[in-house]
Amino acid sequence: MESFLIDPAKAPLAGEARVPGDKSIGHRAVLFAGLGNGQSVISGLSGGQDNQRTVEALTALGIEVHPAGPGRLKIEGRGLFGLRAPERDLDCGNSGTSIRLLSGVLSAQRFSSRLCGDRYLNARPMRRVVNPLSRMGGVLYGVPGAKEGDLYPPLSIDPAQSLHGIRHESHIASAQVKSAVLLCSLWAEGVTEVVEPTRSRDHTERMLRALGAPIFTSDDTPPPSMPALSRLSPSGWKRELPAVALEVPGDLSSAAFLLGAALLVPGSRVVLSGVGLNRSRTGVLDAFEQLCPGAVTVHERREVQGEEIGDLHMIAPPDQGLRPMRIDGTLSVRALDELPLLAALSGLALGETVIAGAKELRVKESDRIVATCALLRAFGVECEERPDGLVVQGRGRGPLRAARVDSFGDHRIAMAGAVLALAAPSQSRIEDTANVNTSFPGFVGTLYSLGARIHIVR
Ligand code: S3P
Repeated sequence: MESFLIDPAKAPLAGEARVPGDKSIGHRAVLFAGLGNGQSVISGLSGGQDNQRTVEALTALGIEVHPAGPGRLKIEGRGLFGLRAPERDLDCGNSGTSIRLLSGVLSAQRFSSRLCGDRYLNARPMRRVVNPLSRMGGVLYGVPGAKEGDLYPPLSIDPAQSLHGIRHESHIASAQVKSAVLLCSLWAEGVTEVVEPTRSRDHTERMLRALGAPIFTSDDTPPPSMPALSRLSPSGWKRELPAVALEVPGDLSSAAFLLGAALLVPGSRVVLSGVGLNRSRTGVLDAFEQLCPGAVTVHERREVQGEEIGDLHMIAPPDQGLRPMRIDGTLSVRALDELPLLAALSGLALGETVIAGAKELRVKESDRIVATCALLRAFGVECEERPDGLVVQGRGRGPLRAARVDSFGDHRIAMAGAVLALAAPSQSRIEDTANVNTSFPGFVGTLYSLGARIHIVR
């Protein structure tokens, strides 16, 4: 099993780095390329295992995919009606986004298929997609599991007799659920609407719009409404998506770990260029602003294919302490994947940090509320679990201890641990860290290049 060994940082981190391509956008880019007409070229892909699962599924569905250099794929799209029956189960590995997005696409096909995953993915709830897709006419089956009444992978999907649009009012803000429904609506008769309590990441909507699909979102006309609506009205649409040449922006969720590492080491100066700054994702920057006002600044804001990007500069003040944070409501949704990291950083702030409104953390790659608390406690930080979040008693930079701790099979817990370890008084060890390759291949090398002393041991 792979582990990280991390030494305390002796000098400020410094330098410029590139982060891997955005995982969420990567999934959508390759999917839409496979459903488009003709050859698409997708660049800037992370090479992470999760995106690779979506690529492999497309290949199994008859789409030709050709590597064309690092992070670059040429994908021969066969149009919305060109997928072929797979000869084997489609293995989504650890990737929740692959299984949920593909469930929407496969519910609309004229052949049967089965989606499965690793033991972590097989423990993640799927009724959230099975229910709305079934209401659209999809024929899907999951298997019963840990929570009574819910359904889990493998998901078996049979051809639908007919598909029709629905209005899906979701009680959770989930981009995976929303995207599954919107993807299925590409083949359905009539209007499909998804209403969510707070706008979850909207990459699917942005990409559909860029591809000329008839999509409307309630934030098209400011001020953004709450709850948030996404609607696809296919009447009069030719049901064709063009091929694209798309450059995937850097992943803010990966960048966050490098920014967090720099913030923990006073005097650090780090620049990360070309990072995605979609508003539905930038909660982590707002949280950094609470933690250390003015430390992160955005430069060269620009828009690339409907997504905002920019360069991030982190200048960690040499002497200033970190402040506790309050993260709840919309901010929790906009910083969802970064909450374990933010909780870890708050262990070094002076005072109580409260993270609430984040029940969804319980059904991620691990139960991230349990896993984050275990991580913090291993480093000597007091942390209390709440049903929908956690409370951290930060005691400033001093009292941390070195830890030997498990990642719970979760890439973001592993990386949050590696960051926290930089501030410990002696070497720490994070175990079971190969999962970091699902989202951030090259994490160790990149952190090392900025001056951290981190090694992989087997
Ligand atoms: C993702 C959506 C989020 C996020 C995940 C990626 C996506 O999950 O946590 O890492 O790409 O759509 P939910 O939609 O389930 O909240």
